[in-house]
Amino acid sequence: MNIMNVDYTTKIPNNVNLSEDRQVLKALEGWHPGYMDWWSDMGPEGFQQSLVYLRTAYSVDPRGWAKFDYVRMPEYRWGILLAPQEENRAIPFGEHYGEPAWQEVPGEHRAMLRRLIVIQGDTEPASVEQQRHLGKTAPSLYDLRNLFQVNVEEGRHLWAMVYLLQKYFGRDGREEADELLRRRSGDADSPRMLGAFNEKTPDWLSFFMFTYFTDRDGKMQLHSLAQSGFDPLSRTCRFMLTEEAHHMFVGETGISRVVQRTCEAMKAAGIGDPSDIARVRALGVIDLPTIQKKLNLHYSLSLDLFGSEVSTNAANAFNAGIKGRYRETQIEDDHRLQNSTYPVLKMVNGEIKRVDEPALTALNMRLRDDYTQDCAKGMLRWNKIISLAGYDFKLTLPNVAFHRQIGEFKDIHATPDGVLIEDAAWDKRNSGWLPSSDDGDFIASLMTPVTEPGGFAPWISPPKVGIDNKPGDFEYVKIET
Ligand SMILES: [Fe+2]
Ligand SMILES: [Fe+2]
Repeated sequence: MNIMNVDYTTKIPNNVNLSEDRQVLKALEGWHPGYMDWWSDMGPEGFQQSLVYLRTAYSVDPRGWAKFDYVRMPEYRWGILLAPQEENRAIPFGEHYGEPAWQEVPGEHRAMLRRLIVIQGDTEPASVEQQRHLGKTAPSLYDLRNLFQVNVEEGRHLWAMVYLLQKYFGRDGREEADELLRRRSGDADSPRMLGAFNEKTPDWLSFFMFTYFTDRDGKMQLHSLAQSGFDPLSRTCRFMLTEEAHHMFVGETGISRVVQRTCEAMKAAGIGDPSDIARVRALGVIDLPTIQKKLNLHYSLSLDLFGSEVSTNAANAFNAGIKGRYRETQIEDDHRLQNSTYPVLKMVNGEIKRVDEPALTALNMRLRDDYTQDCAKGMLRWNKIISLAGYDFKLTLPNVAFHRQIGEFKDIHATPDGVLIEDAAWDKRNSGWLPSSDDGDFIASLMTPVTEPGGFAPWISPPKVGIDNKPGDFEYVKIET
């Protein structure tokens, strides 16, 4: 079969020749009912019979891989799609640098590989669970559709990881696949594996922040795994990245549209000071300082996903050829890192200092730095909107020491500017930096759904262009009545 095109004749669409891989097909078909139960229990609340204008992957050719059509979400074709195999691909880093990429799991690294796949897999359904109630308060049909697009694709990403587990890890792989359907975001007894995926996504501003900041952590992790010497994992992640780009687009443009609307409303009302929160809120839009607080929260939660700055696990995964660096193949060095160092931010005698650490153990820090750089691009776009509107206000990324639960800064308190402060000062001041319950209540008060085609809630601007170039009043979701 042609790897570019996806076989839709089997129950599970795929480009991995499942119809001739009976055992794996059987395992996946066995897992399917549990997945559908999970989707109906934990997927989007309501709208399951609505027709949603969704894209479905029909090819892995980057020049044209998706097709748009109306689909009921439970009938979405969740498939197993791997990017085409690169001929003669070599392991691009670590102790096995230059050796042919593995087509089977290397026995000595089996446990580590399985763990990384499970951790990645666990985040996918988690975000669907976190976002399940948002359909009820969508600011437009356009946004509602984008939410559901993200949700079905996160579902597909779960399938992607489950395929790897079931095909390459035998019985324990199948057990892990079942566990992925058993854990629940925020559950006291069996939570999802990573902190940020157990937090609430209470409103649409949180959703945009989540897709901007937390999906972007996903992007960095997928890029590192796309470098993997284990070729099936590399190919899986490469295709996932194609879909992931849209998720971050939803976040970036979502925040742009909120900022845009706030600036327009302030201007129309003749408000000169964006920090005049009460007056801005009276206009029914979200004030810029509150947007900054949400940003502080989601950025700091997402930084925790990179793990400890100095980590022997990260070094081991790199040495083993399992998890590389962001854009590994474009970096010019020896790709082994046995003798190099990398500057790491650490607490030294009560101060934040840059300290050179062996590059191998500093890989989490490096990936986090790459992430921060990637995040900064959004600030530029959003701040341009604010300055074009004539306001002297800048959204900024808080210091990496701010509000951390993991790594070097977990036991200290720092301001968003990176100034260390005592516990008492933190307790007194943190509601100025992180969303308070009052802020949450205010945002919640704006979250009334808009469901007529072409309509938008008054706290957010319409997008510049439609999905699939559709006109502004396109009915992205045909809600069943
Ligand atoms: Fe994903
Ligand atoms: Fe995503």
